[in-house]
Amino acid sequence: MNTKVVRIDEQHIDEALIGEAGRIIREGGLVAFPTETVYGLGGDALNPASSKKIYEAKGRPSDNPLIVHIARMEDLPALVRKVPETAKRLAAAFWPGPLTMIMEKSEAVPRETTGGLATVAVRMPSHPIALTFIEAAGGYVAAPSANRSGRPSPTVADYVVEDLDGRIEMILDGGDVELGLESTIVDLTVEPPVILRPGFVTEEELAGVLGQVEQDATLFSDDSGQAPKAPGMKYRHYAPKGELTIVRGAVPAVTDYINAGLAEGRKNNKRTGVIATDETMGTYRADVLRSVGKRTDVNAVARGLYRILREFDDEGVELIYSESFDGNGVSQAVMNRLLKAAGHKMIDV
Ligand code: TXA
Ligand code: MG
Repeated sequence: MNTKVVRIDEQHIDEALIGEAGRIIREGGLVAFPTETVYGLGGDALNPASSKKIYEAKGRPSDNPLIVHIARMEDLPALVRKVPETAKRLAAAFWPGPLTMIMEKSEAVPRETTGGLATVAVRMPSHPIALTFIEAAGGYVAAPSANRSGRPSPTVADYVVEDLDGRIEMILDGGDVELGLESTIVDLTVEPPVILRPGFVTEEELAGVLGQVEQDATLFSDDSGQAPKAPGMKYRHYAPKGELTIVRGAVPAVTDYINAGLAEGRKNNKRTGVIATDETMGTYRADVLRSVGKRTDVNAVARGLYRILREFDDEGVELIYSESFDGNGVSQAVMNRLLKAAGHKMIDV
């Protein structure tokens, strides 16, 4: 298949191109598109054949459910058995935006889209290209992140091309995404609601609207003895090819520990890399040294993390150390992804 890659300017969205993309979806094809979080790989959410194609293109197990993207609040009731009060309040506060809600699905949503589950994940993204495209596509776009299974979610169209060229009909290139980590997922089918994946809509913000919210026990630990409730979170996503270790502690102890590890790696002829910050960049000696930005700017860390993980793969780095980014708010999303990338390998110093 020949994949058509088109550049779209979000300030002046080309209606003819969006119309073409929408037509591809309505005819059962696949189109990758930018959202504010990461690029998505879209298909018609109400067409079981389209969802099957998404799994094939991604190389993803088909028990891993897809998120259904909508552009208007009026389109939500058709997807769910009943719109919960909690969903109305959360939508008023955070939609359009980086929040996905799990609800009981309606008959209209095929099991192929929900990985066999009786629930459906729904999100209304805020990216103008995403919203225009979803409307042109008929209103219901199923979209996982537009990476091949096991690779970090793409934050620029080039990474989508890298992973999916020749496998899908079209890629809408809208430039760099704004946030860089996937949406927060909250399960509204249980009481109190549970966060299945942390993101830019934080635990504190959700609690502000819902009163009470819990966190899935598996988000920051792999020894909870439980399976994650979001099926996708059980797979070792985002894992770089090199061996990644997170080092946590006071900055001088962390840099000392990492430098000792790097020296050892060099002795064993390993290609080494460090995920550092602007503040610590100068203290490391590694083959590939990358800063995710200022330690105090967690949004910059979130935006840069997946790009850096891909760059380490491209550079053939075998031994990777990362500093730790602990804290509340968006730091929880960063640490959750980093821990998954490291297979939960973290050292306290
Ligand atoms: O920011 C995002 O959410 C991006 C953009 C494209 O919108 N999408 C995204 O999709 O990250 P994906 O497929 O890579 O991640 C969806 C996650 C998976 O972990 C999946 O298991 C979970 O959502 N999920 C989907 N439906 C679910 C359901 N009914 N119950 C529990 N978890 C569900
Ligand atoms: Mg994904």
